[in-house]
Amino acid sequence: MGDQVVAHNGELGSEYEDDDQPFYQNVEILQEHGINVADIKKLKAAGICTIKGIQMTTRRRLAAIKGFSEAKVDKIKEACAKIDQHSFMTALQVSDKRREVFKITTGSKEFDKLLGGGMESMAITEAFGEFRTGKTQLSHTLCVTAQMPGVNYSGGKVIFLDTEHTFRPDRLRTIAERFGLDATAVLDNVLYARAYTSEHQTELLDMVAAKFHEEGGVFKLLVVDSVMALFRVDFSGRGELADRQQRLAQFMSRLQKVSEEYNVAVFITNQMTADPGATMSFQADPKKPIGGNILAHASTTRISLRKGRGETRIAKIYDSPDMPESEATFAITGGGIDDAKD
Ligand SMILES: Nc1ncnc2c1ncn2[C@@H]1O[C@H](COP(=O)(O)OP(=O)(O)O)[C@@H](O)[C@H]1O
Ligand SMILES: [Mg+2]
Repeated sequence: MGDQVVAHNGELGSEYEDDDQPFYQNVEILQEHGINVADIKKLKAAGICTIKGIQMTTRRRLAAIKGFSEAKVDKIKEACAKIDQHSFMTALQVSDKRREVFKITTGSKEFDKLLGGGMESMAITEAFGEFRTGKTQLSHTLCVTAQMPGVNYSGGKVIFLDTEHTFRPDRLRTIAERFGLDATAVLDNVLYARAYTSEHQTELLDMVAAKFHEEGGVFKLLVVDSVMALFRVDFSGRGELADRQQRLAQFMSRLQKVSEEYNVAVFITNQMTADPGATMSFQADPKKPIGGNILAHASTTRISLRKGRGETRIAKIYDSPDMPESEATFAITGGGIDDAKD
């Protein structure tokens, strides 16, 4: 079966050692299982470009694609099950797969240490904090550092989804110069999209997936700055909260899938709000990130940012599967996020 696999490109042919499955399989392979080209095209238009992508999509969502009957969806699902008989892996295989995980430096050694090396791929890292705590500056810095080779890492392109209209390409230039990179080349490697509504923000993810697929293995980072701003505007009433959380859950779930499917790091920023219940309690910090449990559960690692002295900021691990809760001080400089000089 392995030889039939549509190998994506040499770069991504990073195959598992004792297993001839490439990192992902194109939906085109469905042709060999009786699915016609027109239907494959429709899948791709819906942002579903890989067999894994289909497995990560519910039958209900597939049936919502124009021209897809329930029978067709069943046929596609069956074909996928045949193609990918790897639902179970041994722990050793999981460990091999985890070896493909890379980390992108924040620009500050202290901050990296806090994160166990940097922003991890196949995961969502969320940074939340009040206004001016450096969330957007960190987003910009990562756009540049993602392009630099690191440990087990070759560097790659970036997609930036901007919901607050605070993306500044000129900041990328200054940050690129700090690292001795050619600014024009750095800017050329960052794809930018402005999202105007929460719905638009979600739709853009389909295009993100298509882009990741089109240039397989080339993109390494997806930034969403910020994740909640538009959801907050679009669903403002109390009565709309449940609806908002449901849409947010869909967005986050697709974000998670994209990070795993294409082995990219996803970095999202988030705002904070006063916790109305907290004024009545003796909580030390009455502010908390918005997005509730949905966001809390979807983010792999959560970092809180707060102001320190002058241009310094303090990052604290809020929630991580494998890092202890601790803090790091860093600085916001012209060249982006850096270590604080003391
Ligand atoms: N070119 C720069 N050089 C140094 N510091 C900067 C520069 N641009 C912005 N900053 C600092 O970054 C901070 C704003 O951070 P930002 O990432 O926009 O905050 P947030 O997104 O969390 O609201 C400001 O305090 C500002 O001093
Ligand atoms: Mg910002």
